[in-house]
Amino acid sequence: MSRLFEPLQIGELRLANRIVIAPMCQYSADEGSATDWHLIHLGHLALSGAAMLIVEATAVSAEGRITPADLGLYSDANEAALARVLGAVRAHSPIKLAMQLAHAGRKASSRAPWQGGAQIRLGEPGSWRAVAPSAVPHIAGEDAPMALDAAGLQQIRDDFARAARRADRLGLEALEIHAAHGYLLHQFLSPIANKRDDAYGGSLENRMRFPLEIFDVVRAAFAASRPVWARISATDWVPGGWDIDGTVALSKALQARGCAAIHVSSGGVSPQQKIPVGPGYQVPFARRVKAEVGLPTIAVGLITDPEQAEAIVAGGEADAVSLARAMLYDPRWPWHAAARLGARVEAPRQYWRSQPREFKDLFENANFGAR
Ligand SMILES: Cc1cc2nc3c(=O)[nH]c(=O)nc-3n(C[C@H](O)[C@H](O)[C@H](O)COP(=O)(O)O)c2cc1C
Repeated sequence: MSRLFEPLQIGELRLANRIVIAPMCQYSADEGSATDWHLIHLGHLALSGAAMLIVEATAVSAEGRITPADLGLYSDANEAALARVLGAVRAHSPIKLAMQLAHAGRKASSRAPWQGGAQIRLGEPGSWRAVAPSAVPHIAGEDAPMALDAAGLQQIRDDFARAARRADRLGLEALEIHAAHGYLLHQFLSPIANKRDDAYGGSLENRMRFPLEIFDVVRAAFAASRPVWARISATDWVPGGWDIDGTVALSKALQARGCAAIHVSSGGVSPQQKIPVGPGYQVPFARRVKAEVGLPTIAVGLITDPEQAEAIVAGGEADAVSLARAMLYDPRWPWHAAARLGARVEAPRQYWRSQPREFKDLFENANFGAR
């Protein structure tokens, strides 16, 4: 019996298996609004057999976007565009839909990766002044962000709450708060980006304060029956930066506030990072969070092989795995994993006839005939 294909409970959310599609920015929105690309992209991933799809980093305000083409959920038009896309996905797939709520902080006003990914300098078309815990740029020589004052912090709390209410109306089944990869909430956590000397900087407790406040407002704005969790960078991969001990402390603090899971990633706050990239390189962090905190834990990062994913879950290193690039490369990865592991997976009835002869029992409920 495959453990990867056993159901998983996150709060009141039941996942059919332990395969999650990681959030992936598409840089294809129009003033924050989802486009036909999102319908195609999310639509095809929704047919994959994964239990849950986490919609890409979705900005809670226009200034919280990484690039001008980021997805957002800060206007009625954004909400309506997502309603169309999510409605179409729902009509044809049982996949559970979560969304990652995000604010880019000092990494805002960037170009899309295929345009080089650099900062759009102030004064250039499409640029805007980023905000951050401190007026320290991500890379030396870049335009510095504006340090957030009390009114700015309140604005961001309100933006997260409003976006969470919109997500609630859209019927999203879960929310993930983006506190990883060097974006705003991670900037508060990391002493590399946070140089504040008020209640939001300095000690670990102070650096965790704003991310925890954001968790509270999002949790309060989203249906109590549906889970909210956080994606955290477990380490900055820079000496003196944010680390796994902080991650465990933050996870415990989140747990005490009703956080339903932890999605364990790493890096992103500093160009000085030295990441020992390799298969499953972030899994040991997930293992530690799971062992010391006990919340459902999602591991991510170069999990590409079904047996590898099975071993992570069966070995108790994490409760679920999330895949990003492997799902783009092979959008039927969960089908192929089920075939390899002798498990069953849900597929759309329109595709049932594709079931290979050697895997006669692969698709749940499949039956087809003809005159
Ligand atoms: C195209 C692309 C877009 C991404 N966008 C996001 C995002 O919106 N939010 C996020 O937390 N991580 C994002 N990531 C990181 C992935 O979610 C994932 O953590 C990372 O790619 C490592 O997993 P993998 O080895 O399975 O690709 C993105 C990655 C890719 C490849």
